[in-house]
Parts: sequence; structure tokens; C-alpha cells
Amino acid sequence: MSELAIIGGTGLTSMEQLEIVRREVVHTPFGEPSAPFIHGRLFGKEVVFLARHGPGHTIPPHKINYRANIWALDYIGVKRIIAVAAVGGIRADMLPGRLVIPDQIIDYTWGRANTFFEDGSRVVHVDFTAPYCPELRARLLEAGRELPFDVVEGGCYAATQGPRLETAAEIDRIERDGGDIVGMTGMPEAVLARELDLSYATIAVVANLAAGRGDGPVSMEEIGRNLKLGMARVRDLLEATIPLV
Ligand code: HPA
Repeated sequence: MSELAIIGGTGLTSMEQLEIVRREVVHTPFGEPSAPFIHGRLFGKEVVFLARHGPGHTIPPHKINYRANIWALDYIGVKRIIAVAAVGGIRADMLPGRLVIPDQIIDYTWGRANTFFEDGSRVVHVDFTAPYCPELRARLLEAGRELPFDVVEGGCYAATQGPRLETAAEIDRIERDGGDIVGMTGMPEAVLARELDLSYATIAVVANLAAGRGDGPVSMEEIGRNLKLGMARVRDLLEATIPLV
């Protein structure tokens, strides 16, 4: 049984290295997950892979059924989740192509179903002081130290609503708030994992300089190019991390 899950985001809708054993469709009390769960072996370990935006990348960030995805992973026996997410870089060292293992979150999303505990179930205020699992982060960073590129230790992930990118003023505000990188899918995914007591950490891949931090508009072509390099690095980081998990 696969106790480790990889949630792939933009630029990582499948993994060639995954030797697929079976596909599993799960229905949940919260509706349908983004895609079938792909069980297989990756770098010597059993893992399950989920394409967050759907197999053909058709689900935008604000329409993802985060509750169904996380509930289903728990239901099929997953204990640890490595989430891969494309982000914009705000802090000066968050350069395109870099990988970041964030340690904090600021949530600017709205209107997303962000708890399992509602509608007559008990009221739960889950502790979220440290939103990512420290042990899983440590494994990623330990593995990252062996690689020939930098894996940035820590950073605050600002979760925005999307699907549009931010204005330059919004990025200035997020920076004043303490945000280092910005993405659209980090929440409520992280808190839902916490509510079910799943170990959860993120590999953030810097796809672009955030709005107002580069020379002109954020270009989709640039994002595509940087994600290609970034996702090759993600594969290297996963290869180095998975034996340690
Ligand atoms: N902002 C929000 N989400 C993103 C960005 C960005 O600049 N780049 C990739 N995902």
C-alpha cells in the first residue's frame, strides 16, 4: 500500500518515472477528486500520484475540490503528502527555476471549502502554527543538500485566489505582510491535510518573478520555460528524498 502521495501541480500532471501499477477512482462524501489516483513505484518506493488540476490540466485553482482530494488520500491509506506547486517569486532570492521548501503560509483565498468540520459535525480549531510537517520538510532539505542546485530552506507561501495573477500593488502588500512566494493552490490543501493529521510538505517551484518584480508583464512563455527546468529539478529532489521517507 502506498503511504506516500505526490500531488502534482502545473507542469507536473504525470511522472514518466512512475511505474504504474493501477489506477484507482475514489468517490468521497465531498464530491469527486481531481483525477484517478495513480498507484505505482517511484524510485524504489510505492507511491500514489494525483494530478491536482486534473489529468488534462483543466481544473483552475479556485475550482479544485481540495476536500475530496485530501479526504480520498486519507481514505486510501496515505500518511504523507509531498505537494508540488508552481509559484511566483517575491523575495529577491526566489529566482525562476529555484525550488523552495516553504515553512509558513499566509492565506488570501476566499470562498473555498476549507474545513472538514462543518454542517453539524463537531467544531474543530486545528493548530496550524507550523503549517508544514517539520519532519517531511527536513527530509526534503536533507536530500536537497546532495543536489547540484540550491533548494531554498524556508519561506512564506502566500496563497492567492486566482485564477488571475496578482497586481504589482498586491505583490507589494504581500511582501509587506511577509510573503516570499505566491501561488494559488497551497490553501486550503495544507490545512485540510492537517485536519486529517496527514504529514504534508510542499516543494514550491518558482515559475516567474511575481507581478511588478520583473521587467514587464508576467509571460506565460517564460513560466513554461522555467517550469520545465524546475520540474526536472523536482524529479531529482524526489529521487533523492523518497528513499529517506
Ligand atoms: N502568482 C500566483 N500564482 C502563481 C504565480 C504567480 O506569480 N506563478 C505561478 N503560480
